[in-house]
Amino acid sequence: MDKIYLGTNWKMHKTINETELYLKELNKNLNNIDFNKIKLFVIPPYTSLNKARKELVDSNILLGAQNMHWKREGAYTGEISPLMLDEIGVDIVELGHSERRQYYNENNIDINKKAKTALDFNFTPLICVGENYEAKKYGISEEMIRKQLKIIFNNIKREEAKKLLIAYEPVWAIGEKGEPAKPEYAEKIHILIRSYLEEKYDNMTSKNIPLIYGGSVNNENALKFLTRTNIDGLFIGRAAWDVESFLNIIHKINFFKYNS
Ligand code: PGA
Repeated sequence: MDKIYLGTNWKMHKTINETELYLKELNKNLNNIDFNKIKLFVIPPYTSLNKARKELVDSNILLGAQNMHWKREGAYTGEISPLMLDEIGVDIVELGHSERRQYYNENNIDINKKAKTALDFNFTPLICVGENYEAKKYGISEEMIRKQLKIIFNNIKREEAKKLLIAYEPVWAIGEKGEPAKPEYAEKIHILIRSYLEEKYDNMTSKNIPLIYGGSVNNENALKFLTRTNIDGLFIGRAAWDVESFLNIIHKINFFKYNS
């Protein structure tokens, strides 16, 4: 793929004020970035989305939300609807992050419903899949990921699938206790995801859906993932919450892309 996707999910971090400071600093330091080759996105918490939209109005950075309900409105206390996100003007909706699955019992059927709604609203669904530690230990990672894909992609047509982004995020690789996947292992799973998409749709479609890796990505290991043909981008948590640290990664990758 000729473009690299680089994005960060802030999880439950940053107030509105902190969002403003972060995005001002980010915007100020992207002058030499080749946006034909690098697609940047940030996914702040809901409370910061409106402020973030304003900060990003003239920028090339895409804005995402961390979750969304599949209904337009209703008696669902604490939830956020697609209408609300549409009004703010988000580009991406992240769906199925492992922390949503782990702590809020989100399942593949929910994620499928959310993906369909997101497509109806013209958001780019960023679908997260990945096996947990148990599955890896017992050698059933591939089965688990195929099952996730099979349910999440149920009733999603080829034309719709082309609008998706997929993040492979092994649960054992995420967060403070996580160990980054070996790049060759991550690529093996990306190839599995691609072949699932090829079986379900066709070769062209499978090649055009960006597959990004997430789980303990940092400045040291970022390029090791991106030099693999089947890894089209990186989804970064902790290493991008400090704007300087995110900028270091962005510039390193821009340099690599510029010279390749
Ligand atoms: P991490 O988070 O980079 O802090 O491991 C990744 C993620 O949850 O997407």
